[in-house]
Parts: sequence; structure tokens; C-alpha cells
Amino acid sequence: MPLTESTPRLLVVDNEPLVLEIVERFARQLGFEVAFRSSGREALACFPDVKPDVALVDLRMPGLSGIDVLRAIRTADPDSQVILMTGNATVDTAIEAVKSGALDYLSKPLDFERLRELLVTVRERIKRRERLLRVDSDVAKRFEFHGMIGRSPTMQELFDLIRRLAPHVRTVLIAGETGTGKELVAKALYKLGSRRDRRFVTVNCSAVVETLFESELFGHARGAFTGATETKVGLFEHADGGTLFLDEVGELPLGVQGKLLRVLELGEVQRVGSLEPRQVDVAVFAATNRDLRAEVSAGRFRSDLFYRLDVVELHLSPLRERREDIPYLTAAFVRDAAARLRKRVIGITPTAERVLLDRRWDGNVRELRNVIERACILCEGQLITERDLSPAGHTAESATPPCPVPPEDVPIEAANTRGLATVERGQIVKVLETTAGNKKAAAKLLGLSRRALYRRLEWHGLGESIQRRGPDPSHGPPDRV
Ligand SMILES: Nc1ncnc2c1ncn2[C@@H]1O[C@H](COP(=O)(O)OP(=O)(O)OP(=O)(O)O)[C@@H](O)[C@H]1O
Ligand SMILES: [Mg+2]
Repeated sequence: MPLTESTPRLLVVDNEPLVLEIVERFARQLGFEVAFRSSGREALACFPDVKPDVALVDLRMPGLSGIDVLRAIRTADPDSQVILMTGNATVDTAIEAVKSGALDYLSKPLDFERLRELLVTVRERIKRRERLLRVDSDVAKRFEFHGMIGRSPTMQELFDLIRRLAPHVRTVLIAGETGTGKELVAKALYKLGSRRDRRFVTVNCSAVVETLFESELFGHARGAFTGATETKVGLFEHADGGTLFLDEVGELPLGVQGKLLRVLELGEVQRVGSLEPRQVDVAVFAATNRDLRAEVSAGRFRSDLFYRLDVVELHLSPLRERREDIPYLTAAFVRDAAARLRKRVIGITPTAERVLLDRRWDGNVRELRNVIERACILCEGQLITERDLSPAGHTAESATPPCPVPPEDVPIEAANTRGLATVERGQIVKVLETTAGNKKAAAKLLGLSRRALYRRLEWHGLGESIQRRGPDPSHGPPDRV
């Protein structure tokens, strides 16, 4: 969704209807969308929905005072500005206002020239930020290659290698830690290759039961074994003329490795229980997050199969070795998540970006994507702040889970005596709302196992209150095994 110029929003809070009316007319002329409330409580209640860029708040109102509202807004969204106004200006309240982060403190009757200056400042600041972020997002687009973003020299070299290899490559080994983008590389090779109009069949070698491997890959004849009631075409035949993506190839059982090598060498498969060889013409892209050379020396992977697959090796470096990609990946992930969540999040504060640049990222780009997705869910304003990311003091060294939910091994009661209960409850509810009650997806976003999430739901008394809505997203398309 392209970034459009958004209309600045003003929230006016005063128990005098006349003030609301005059300010509303004035601010509309300056291009603001105006919402108004006549008490502090109403103002805070509507804040998450209105998401104002600036609030003009009367100091003295029945119930919550202007200072209370100011502090609450600055806590909820440090990006949102607050201007206090009062008919009883005093030095004390002026100092308190500035100390609590007010943009300005105006006395009534209002000086509309001064108010114009302040509103125009807020409006121009929003425009400038959006322009910067548009540039960022355009720049990020420039460093995008078939769904992969990478500005770092190592990624630019990889993109160049993929461009040059794709038209010719038949067997390739893609290596790299989890979440670095191996599947994206395989897809890019396929899309740029000569077989792009033919099938791309993925098999996750860690998901196939050892005894069924041969039948999955090579098929079986009817009656080949108990339960083989029909002839089955294997994935090699299914991918004939196209590409087979052997994901997590390091998990392939030794017994099957020999058979796979034979297919790669002879270009023919033999269904289980059949003596008839069948010619297949399949490009094989293999991926692994293991060090296959170490697997070979440990005797867990056949050296001849390794050398057969390692015709061309593409290596993805871990995110911690290409930190200059983090801002571009972040800009793209914010854009995607905000569009999906229909939220007005347009970027990230410099402080929050520094936190991201500092992290160790054991889960690499996938972890960054999840962190941004979760931050977008939690973000109240337009910019993701440090608070939306993780508790303070999180750096590359510490590597604790990013979300302010205590680690699994800390008993819930102990963790919540540290006052996290309310924050944790609010976050869990928000994440579950976004995943439409899908607990598996929510647990992933919260960095928890499902068991730990159920325990916390129970503890917060949320057991039955959150039900799943809509279809179960964890069931993938048929072309995967
Ligand atoms: N350079 C990149 N630009 C944009 N998104 C990326 C990039 N690299 C990875 N991703 C995203 O990160 C996630 C993980 O990528 P992918 O599935 O390709 O990783 P992988 O290396 O196959 O991981 P695993 O070893 O766990 O299977 C995906 O959501 C992918 O879209
Ligand atoms: Mg993968």
C-alpha cells in the first residue's frame, strides 16, 4: 500500500463547548481532522481510536485535569504532542506542564497566531517524516530483489550471483542459518530460471517420516508394501521438467541419501516395488541450515551426495553479519504489517532502530519480521517505539526473548509480582485479537510455546474468553510435503 500524505489529527479537550467549536473551525482551515471531547476521561477513552498527532487540552476540568491527560497521552504515545490551555495560568502549572512534556502552555483567551504556529509546526513535522519514510521505502524498494531486501555488499553479491546463475543452474546447494532467506533464494532462482513455467515442488526433509521417504520421493507400485493399495507417483516424477526444492536436506536419512544420489546421477527413478526405471528431468535445489561439511565428517551425510549437490553453493550470511540491511528490512516489514493490520504505523523511532541494530538475531530475518509484526500490533502511534519492541536493556549480548513476557521458566506468579501482569495481559489479548484467536500464531508472535501461552491465559483468567474466528491458517497449499 503506497504511503499517502495522511491528514493531521487534532483532539480538543475542554468542558466549554464554545472553545471546542471555535478551535474546531480554526484547525479545519489548517487542514486538520478534528475530534473533541468534553472531559479528560472521554479523551483518554477515545485516544487509541482517534490517534491524534496533537491534543489541545484544557488545564482545569472536572475529574481528570489537563496535566493528567498530558501525562497519560505522552506515556501512551511519545509521538503525540499535547498543548495545554488555561484561563488561570500560573508559573507552577506552566513549569509542571513543560516538565511533563507539553509542546506549549497557552492562556485563554487563546492567542490564535500562536496556536496557528504550533499546529503548522506539527503538520509540517508529519509531512517531513512521511517524506523521509517514503524516501526510505523507495530506497528499500531499490534494494529489493524478488522479495528479498538486501543493501549489504554480501546480499548485493548474492543477488548478482543469482541473476547470473539462474538461467543455467540445475543443481544448487543453498546454505545458511535458520531464517536467513534460503527459501526466498530458491524461489528467486526458479523465477529467473528456464524452468519457471514448470512445477516448483517443495519437500521438507525434516517433515517426512523415514519409512515413507522413498515412496514420497520416488513413488510406489500398487502392493509394494502393506497399505500401498494404489500406485503412487513420487515427487521426482511430479516435478518432471521442473524443479524439486529439497528443503532441510541435512535431515535426509542416510539410507535415502544413497537412493537420491542415484537419481541425481542417472536421472531416473524407480518406484518402490517396481523394477521399471523412469527417466526424469528435474532441477534440484537443496537447502540446509546445517554445516553439511561437518555432517559429512561426522558420517551423518554422504560425501558423494554432498559433492553431487554442491555443484554451486549459495551462502546466506546471518543477519548479525549484515546489520546494514536491518533498517531496510524494517522499513519493508513495517510497510507490510501496517497494510495487513490496517494500522497507521509508518516507521520506527531512531531509538528503537538502534535497539534493533544492536540485537543478536539468532532467528535472523524471520525473527526480525516477527518482532516488527508484533511491534506493529502493539504500536499505539505512527512510529514504533522502543517500548513496542522489548523491555529496556536488551542488547546483542543478552539475547533474551524480545517481548516483555517473562521467560518460560520463571513461575508466572513470580514474574507478575514485578508488575508485568497488566502489560502482559494487555499484550496477550491484543496479539490474540490480531490472530483472530489463533493460539499457535499468537504463541509464535509472543515468542512462547503454546503450552506456556495456555498457562498464562489460564493465569490471567482468559481461558475460554478468546475463541478462534475464521479458517485455520496453519493448513498450507497441496504442493508442499
Ligand atoms: N532478505 C530478505 N528480505 C525480506 N524478507 C526476508 C529476507 N530474508 C528472509 N526473509 C523473510 O524471513 C522469513 C524466513 O525466510 P526463509 O523461510 O526463506 O528462511 P530459511 O533460510 O528458509 O529458514 P529456515 O532454515 O528456518 O527454513 C520469511 O518470512 C522471509 O520472507
Ligand atoms: Mg526454509
